[in-house]
Amino acid sequence: MTLILNRNDVMSVLKMKDCIDVVEKAFTELANGTAVLPLRTNITPPDGLSLYMPAYLKEMKALACKIVTVYKNNPKNYNLPVVIGKVMLQDPDTGDVICIMDGGYLTAVRTGAASGVATKYIARESDGQIAGIFGTGVQAQMQLLAVAEVRKLSKALIYDISNEAALKFINDLQGKVDFEIIKVLSPDEVLEADIICTATSSPTPIFNGQKVKKGTHINGIGSHTPNARELDSDIILRSKFIGDSKEGCFSEAGDIMIPLKEGIIDESHFFAELGEVITGKKEGRANDTEITIFKSNGLAIQDTASAKLIYDRAVEAGVGTEVKI
Ligand SMILES: NC(=O)c1ccc[n+]([C@@H]2O[C@H](COP(=O)([O-])OP(=O)(O)OC[C@H]3O[C@@H](n4cnc5c(N)ncnc54)[C@H](O)[C@@H]3O)[C@@H](O)[C@H]2O)c1
Repeated sequence: MTLILNRNDVMSVLKMKDCIDVVEKAFTELANGTAVLPLRTNITPPDGLSLYMPAYLKEMKALACKIVTVYKNNPKNYNLPVVIGKVMLQDPDTGDVICIMDGGYLTAVRTGAASGVATKYIARESDGQIAGIFGTGVQAQMQLLAVAEVRKLSKALIYDISNEAALKFINDLQGKVDFEIIKVLSPDEVLEADIICTATSSPTPIFNGQKVKKGTHINGIGSHTPNARELDSDIILRSKFIGDSKEGCFSEAGDIMIPLKEGIIDESHFFAELGEVITGKKEGRANDTEITIFKSNGLAIQDTASAKLIYDRAVEAGVGTEVKI
């Protein structure tokens, strides 16, 4: 039998705290060599882009593939979203697909979870820190919830070029956190924050890297193509750079690829992969004054670990619909 989980099913069983735990384990497996993570396969049919993201986590006994499509004309022509994602989870012992689940909410939570893990290991440890969030879409919401799981925050400063989006963010989240969320009117005002998340759709830098204060930790998750970046060359140069994967950062992340091309940094500026920091193979933050960056492009190991978690929780709770295919 194959279990079918729709978005509501996934939302009912997936909790950020649990997702942070399994995503941390997934990055650990990547660093320890027990994860299989082939490069993402891209196919471009005439009207869109189809991405296949498989991964296997041996210790976690998790095997899955996420299919994400980006079809710009979907809303106009078919009343469907631009981005659609579904995950197929397999039984590693038999290979059979045991669950097909919606991948939209999963993607947002697992992306938040990676920043949660990075913040846990790399940001300064003190309580009462201020979070700063650039962008206020669904990804940004999960960034704040993840950071709030691993650090006790005093407030959050949010900035979006869309006032409407920022107001919706406050409306959606203010009741879910125990600190104030404040909408600010300029990027500079966000830079008061100790922990910054960039989760925008901007292809060009969104703040002045010279103005970031010492000791700040930044999770950069928005841009993920070679020619797009949210972070300018100044902030890359001033920071210790940790990425989700070295290969991903040097093939997808304009944030590091553009300053590299400009000759402002060389490849050695890439300090470590997140898994290397978690496992102690490389040092994380060295002191309270250095600026740290975690650059996330999104890895299939995050999807696979999260899909296994969702499936296990759904089975426990009796959620979803079983079908014989
Ligand atoms: N790293 C990952 O694993 C991962 C996973 C999923 C999505 N993403 C990326 O995250 C980004 C955000 O996704 P989303 O679904 O929340 O998108 P969204 O379109 O819902 O939200 C993006 C927000 O950014 C705002 N914005 C654009 N330019 C800005 C600027 N200069 N300053 C401040 N705000 C600005 C927009 O007004 C919008 O509200 C996208 O680029 C997406 O591709 C990354």
